[in-house]
Amino acid sequence: MTRRLSVEGAAMTQDEAKRRVAKRAAQLVRDGQAVGLGTGSTATLFIRELGARVQRGELKIRCVASSDASHQLGLELGMDMRTLDELPELDVYIDGADEVCRREGGGLDLIKGGGGALLREKIVASAAKEFIVVADSTKLVDVLGRFPLPVEVIRMALPLVEPKLSALGLNPKLRMKKDVSQGLKPPLILECGDAGTEVPAYSKAAGPSGISNAAGAEPFVTDEGNYILDCACGRIDEPEVVAAEIRSIVGVVEHGLFLGMATLALVAAEDGVKEIRA
Ligand code: 5RP
Repeated sequence: MTRRLSVEGAAMTQDEAKRRVAKRAAQLVRDGQAVGLGTGSTATLFIRELGARVQRGELKIRCVASSDASHQLGLELGMDMRTLDELPELDVYIDGADEVCRREGGGLDLIKGGGGALLREKIVASAAKEFIVVADSTKLVDVLGRFPLPVEVIRMALPLVEPKLSALGLNPKLRMKKDVSQGLKPPLILECGDAGTEVPAYSKAAGPSGISNAAGAEPFVTDEGNYILDCACGRIDEPEVVAAEIRSIVGVVEHGLFLGMATLALVAAEDGVKEIRA
């Protein structure tokens, strides 16, 4: 879907806005730095911009990516791609987000994982001194939760985790491959306060994994071999509480709440790229 935003008086597409913040973020990277590369369409534009700087000989940097796709892209662009084994401390991590919320009193909270890379994204972000978020203005929210919150789950634990998330009122839905291959973001974007969508395509009769494969529908599997439950829970007024509740469920690997991790957000807004500091 191509959304039109109003930027600097002229209509600009969401893709143009993403390109603009991606370019700005690439300009912030300095020679010699160890850089974490994010995942998703905005991060991909950023990696391309950064790769172009490397190719022009402006920068000599080493990079760690938060997904196989971004790692592969970096290699294709001739970048020096490493692993956390080789580079456990990063100067900066740059990635997109599905929602960006500025807390009252300071601090940036995010929902991430729309592209299914939340686990590695959180790992790579946690290795970095600085975490810069790149987003267009549609991602800015007053309260998190319009975008369904992704929760990464060990496959064998799905039958245990899904009812526990439901009992918390989080309305989980198993992410399917077709949602991702069609370029759709997970199930739907809710108005804050909405909840109650269809239940996951989960069936005890369907086989050892418990997943129905009707009509060729297969669950999406992350780079780490896990499933994702997208929780269309509506507004999240107390993200720390929700994060702790989800984390306490055995079988949950990670959730898409990135609370207080980002240090700077670059947001393409009506008057150019806005900087929101944590
Ligand atoms: C991937 C992510 C992405 O950063 C997030 O989904 C934003 O994606 P895009 O830049 O394509 O809008 O968290 O897991």
